[in-house]
Amino acid sequence: MRSLFLHAPNRRRPRVMLERMLALVDDDTPPDGPEGPVAVLERRLADLLGKERALFFPSGTMAQQTALRVHADRRGRRTFAAHPQTHLDVWEEQGYNAVHGLTLRRAGDPYELMTAKDLAAAVGEPPAAVVWELPQRDLGGLPEWDDLCEQTAIARAAGAATHLDGARLWEAQSYYRRPFDEIAALFDTVYVSLYKSLQGVRGAVLASDAATVDVAAVWRQRLGGGIGDAWPLALAALVHLDTLADRMPAYREHAIAVAAAINADGAARAHPDPPQTPLFHVHLPADRRAVEQAGQEILAEHGVQLWGRVRPASEPGRCAFEVTVGENAMEFTPDEVVALIHDLLARAAGRRP
Ligand SMILES: Cc1ncc(COP(=O)(O)O)c(C=O)c1O
Repeated sequence: MRSLFLHAPNRRRPRVMLERMLALVDDDTPPDGPEGPVAVLERRLADLLGKERALFFPSGTMAQQTALRVHADRRGRRTFAAHPQTHLDVWEEQGYNAVHGLTLRRAGDPYELMTAKDLAAAVGEPPAAVVWELPQRDLGGLPEWDDLCEQTAIARAAGAATHLDGARLWEAQSYYRRPFDEIAALFDTVYVSLYKSLQGVRGAVLASDAATVDVAAVWRQRLGGGIGDAWPLALAALVHLDTLADRMPAYREHAIAVAAAINADGAARAHPDPPQTPLFHVHLPADRRAVEQAGQEILAEHGVQLWGRVRPASEPGRCAFEVTVGENAMEFTPDEVVALIHDLLARAAGRRP
């Protein structure tokens, strides 16, 4: 199977993944302790992000709930502000509320990026924290650097902590072209995913100052995330840590080329135009269910997976899917993606391709 969607094939090929992990260890590698893979990964990411400490979590969902809980308890405030399409709200069953009793203050328009003006309005009731998702996954874009600096200053002036949902920090960095620690310095807590662009198996890391990480470790234990023997997850994340940042500009260039071909063709629309990062969305003038069915047919007949999920659109009869260019999508030429979209739309409209 070929896929436009998963960052890299390795996660679905255990043997390849294990061979790469094996190359990083020898007979003396300990499973835990200060020289074990988890501690090594935590130190490497803390250094990269310019933070005092970093802490492994089994998932980003748990890492971010923990960060918000720590900020809320420390400030005695129960709300946090974020874009209406924040992953925390849309895809995590509102765990921040169900588990921690926190309330989300939605800042801005669901179909546009959050602006400084939106945020200034939202922090009228001072929140415990403000969350930025870079890029805003369900829209595909991210704020310009100066805008981001202005927004984080507004949050800090309101006494709120700044938190980065950096599930795709490497993608965002390919746009800002600033050192990772300069980007991370805008945020009190930074979460990065170990299995998206880093192409590990699963897991997350939360980086911050030492005092915050100490409290986060207590919450990780309470939430059931203080798992021992997490070394295979850490090792899998270490495989690409050194090479990823160098590869990202090529992913971004390819995303720009694919999106340009889609928009020049005109049957569908790629957004943002041009993509700022390797992540963008393809908007289709077709019914979501018909598109899902057509995608299943293409997968069955041609072995090509176009997406993880088709998203509904605000306008009836339209839908969209996300593309993240990683190793997988590099295999598709822009013309091939355009041809696949034509095939998809023809099938969705009930015409055989
Ligand atoms: C933007 C964003 N934040 C957070 C998460 C949650 O990460 P995890 O799957 O490790 O819980 C994801 C996962 O897809 C994500 O895309």
